[in-house]
Amino acid sequence: MRLHLNENTAGCSPAVLETLRALGRQDAGFYPDYGLARAAVARCFGVPDDHVLLTNGLDEGILAAVAAAFRERTAETPETVGVAPAFDMYEVCTTALGGRMVTVALDGQYNLDSDAVRAAVTRATRIVFLTNPHNPSGVRWPLDDLRQLARDIAPVPLFLDEAYADFSGDTLIDAGTFADLPNLVIGRTFSKAYGIAGLRAGAVIGAPDSLAPLARVVPPYSLNAWATAALPVAIADRGYRAWYLDQAALSRRLLGEACERLGLQTWPSAANFILVRVGDRASDIVAALAARGVVVRDRSKEIGCEQCIRITAGIVDDTRRAVAALEEVMCAAR
Ligand SMILES: Cc1ncc(COP(=O)(O)O)c(C=O)c1O
Repeated sequence: MRLHLNENTAGCSPAVLETLRALGRQDAGFYPDYGLARAAVARCFGVPDDHVLLTNGLDEGILAAVAAAFRERTAETPETVGVAPAFDMYEVCTTALGGRMVTVALDGQYNLDSDAVRAAVTRATRIVFLTNPHNPSGVRWPLDDLRQLARDIAPVPLFLDEAYADFSGDTLIDAGTFADLPNLVIGRTFSKAYGIAGLRAGAVIGAPDSLAPLARVVPPYSLNAWATAALPVAIADRGYRAWYLDQAALSRRLLGEACERLGLQTWPSAANFILVRVGDRASDIVAALAARGVVVRDRSKEIGCEQCIRITAGIVDDTRRAVAALEEVMCAAR
């Protein structure tokens, strides 16, 4: 049971599968046309089409943002700024493209210290990466703080990764925001709530002028024809998405209650995962869960995540099995 990457373990909407099955030889033979998919994403977020850049998963959006930000060559090493702990692709892309990531530690509750982020921005900073709700804790940050931070660091771009915003319902996306904050771009993914991680579809949303440098580094046919056909159908099936969001909400509650019974610390998550402090033997616990067929993410080696594992909180049946395995493993460990 894959509970380590926050995928929708039920998979995609049945309507998506039907669409994929109906694709034919020419769909494979021709370069895809993004018109319908882009319009569907724009409608989904309530922005004009020119505020949407489709990407091969949000990972590609992050890579494109760093590449665009590092384009201008200067004598100093280009830097990105973020928090620790965080989603690892910000640092992976930064170092892969010859830069250095500067991180600001979060407090024990994973709250955002926007003053500290602001203070970390220097002449060398090319872009700031933040995630709301935060990964790996699931903690949500106040939208007003994020808006103010974007304003304060301008013209440095703020890349706000909203990979899990479907679950929290919090977003900074609206056409007014981008007119007010041209340095803000927002990353979204269809891998989580929409269950198409295997197809690879993401989007960066922002003012057309802010997206233009990213668009120059994303290859012209980045999403393949199958992802392109699936995307509008996945977005249109609001019932499937609502069902999965309900499953995730119940799973968060079940996991939270189980951890409370076991005396394990958790944090209030607004995403489809939960961070759990299991103690010094986190890696052994991850291995013991894996031996019972439950794969969870060992985050215990990361700064700010000591003794912690992260468990996907999605499909309720999976969660019940994970809870049973966790109870068994924790009782055996004591
Ligand atoms: C915070 C965050 N951003 C981006 C991504 C990447 O999403 P995608 O599958 O669209 O590349 C993930 C995936 O786990 C994530 O957790």
